[in-house]
Formats: sequence, structure tokens, C-alpha cells
Amino acid sequence: MEARFFEGDAMFHTLGRWFRSLSYHPSSSSHAPVSATLGALKSLLGLAMVVEARDPYTAGHLWRVSQLARLLAERAGLSPQERAYCEAGGFLHDLGKVAMPDHVLFKGGPLTPDEFEIMKTHPTVGAHMLSPHALGSAVHAAVLSHHERPDGEGYPQGLSGASVPMVARVVGLADAFDAMTSDRPYRKGMPMGRATEIIRAERGKQFDARWVDVLTDKVRIHELAHIVGHSDEGLPLASCPVCQGPLAMPRGAGPGMTACRICGAELEVVKTHGVLDLRPTGRKASAEQLQPQPDLALIEVMARGMAPYAACRT
Ligand SMILES: [Fe+2]
Repeated sequence: MEARFFEGDAMFHTLGRWFRSLSYHPSSSSHAPVSATLGALKSLLGLAMVVEARDPYTAGHLWRVSQLARLLAERAGLSPQERAYCEAGGFLHDLGKVAMPDHVLFKGGPLTPDEFEIMKTHPTVGAHMLSPHALGSAVHAAVLSHHERPDGEGYPQGLSGASVPMVARVVGLADAFDAMTSDRPYRKGMPMGRATEIIRAERGKQFDARWVDVLTDKVRIHELAHIVGHSDEGLPLASCPVCQGPLAMPRGAGPGMTACRICGAELEVVKTHGVLDLRPTGRKASAEQLQPQPDLALIEVMARGMAPYAACRT
């Protein structure tokens, strides 16, 4: 039997009713319900910007996981509402990392057993942080259970098989695929084909068998090319010309001055033949330039994309 999508059918139906009650009816004279949906979604998705602000290495990881999770959900034939939950869950999955101490979050090498014990708390921390939010329940399972494994070797609860909520299995697979294909300070990201091979070898062990099959049988490698190495639709990740760290340019960015929040270098954004390029100025960035720039345009687009799907149920 297919496992539950959320942590209980009652929650699914409650959320479905809630979203339907907020749905937009063009014939209605009042647009307040859709505004309420959008406002709650933007508030929820905006929390992901806290993770980006805390750790500049995140650099679009949350967007990529959300898009991969949505693509997998779509190819598996899930309903529009379920796809929206996969997308939102992928975007919020690592919220608890904001509470990880610097020496754990920013450690360049492997974690000690004690440090790993601390890191293993991030799903629970994230789930607690989301609990007061009006839509926190919608992403609770993805946030709490994205590191669970079908073989029971995951954390924080050691769930196994079908007891891992489906949305968490989708997000967990998308998370691992992006981790493997992304550059890290200490290694280059691997080719997509190699990542897929490794995932296939872990079918039924680290990764859920059904979702491994969706990734390998129903998604073509070239279809992932607009997600891998990007931080938004049509926006490839840039790399700092000083430290080579990843740099996510905000939607609609143009020529001007910016900064690398990893090494603190001031950078000039120039447009050459229609392509944005980064050049070091040789100066240290100012405190003002080093401020994180939440990508509110991306949040707006994602929330608007999700709201109508979240509001219906097939
Ligand atoms: Fe995580």
C-alpha cells in the first residue's frame, strides 16, 4: 500500500479544505481569499531566505531541490496539490540549519560523531520553527523526515519503508541529487549521469525505490539541465572570481556593484554580449554591500505559481 503523503489523512483533508476555502473564483466580487493564500505562501516561502542569509554556500540549493521535487512529482502523476507540497517542502527542507552552530555548519571537512549528532537535529529544529506558521503543517513532513531512509538508517526518527511520508521521500531524493551535482568548497559537483548511477545503486536502501525509478526512467538528463547549476529559471549560478564560491544572482539583477558573502570581496557586475559577468574591484565589500539580498521576486513568482494549484484538489 502506498504510504501516506502527509503524516495523517486527517491533515491532508484539513489542508485540502483550507486551501479550497481560499481558492480564487473569477466570478466572485471579492479577491480577499486569493490574497490570503498568497500572503501565507509568501510568508512561508520567504523563510527559506533566512537559510540563504545564514549560509551563503546554500546559493540556490533550496530552489533546485524544490524544482527537482516538483518535476519528480509531476512525472509520477501526482495531483497539482501534491506537486505544490513537494515544491514547498523542497524549498523549506533545511530551515533548521539556521540553528546549527558555526563550527558545525561551516566545517570544511567531515563532521566528528559529536558534531554529526548536532547536525542530525536540524530536521526536528526546522519542524519546531515552522509549527506556529499558518501553513507550517503543509511542509512539516518534508522538513522533519527528508533525512529518513527506506532501510531505517536515516534520522531523526529512524523511520523505514512506507512509514516515511511520501513528500519526504521525494524531497530527500532531490536533496541528495542536488548535493551530488553541486560544487562544494572541497570538491567539484559530479556529472548528472554519475549521480544517477549512485542513486540507482542505493535503490531501496538510502532512496525510495519508486522515486528512484521516476528519476531514472521518467526524467531525461537534459530536462534537469535548467535546474542543476541554477538558482532560478534561466539564471545559472555565478562563481566568485576571487574565492570561486557559488553566488546566486537575484532575479532581475543588472550591472552594478555587489559582493561575495563568502570571501567578502567587492565585485562589479558587468554585462558583456548580454551575459552578466563578475569582476573583482580589488576592494573589500562594505557592510552595506555584504547584506543578504532576499530574492523577493523569486518568492512572489513561486507563491503565485503554487497558489492556484494548492487551492484545488484532483
Ligand atoms: Fe537537511
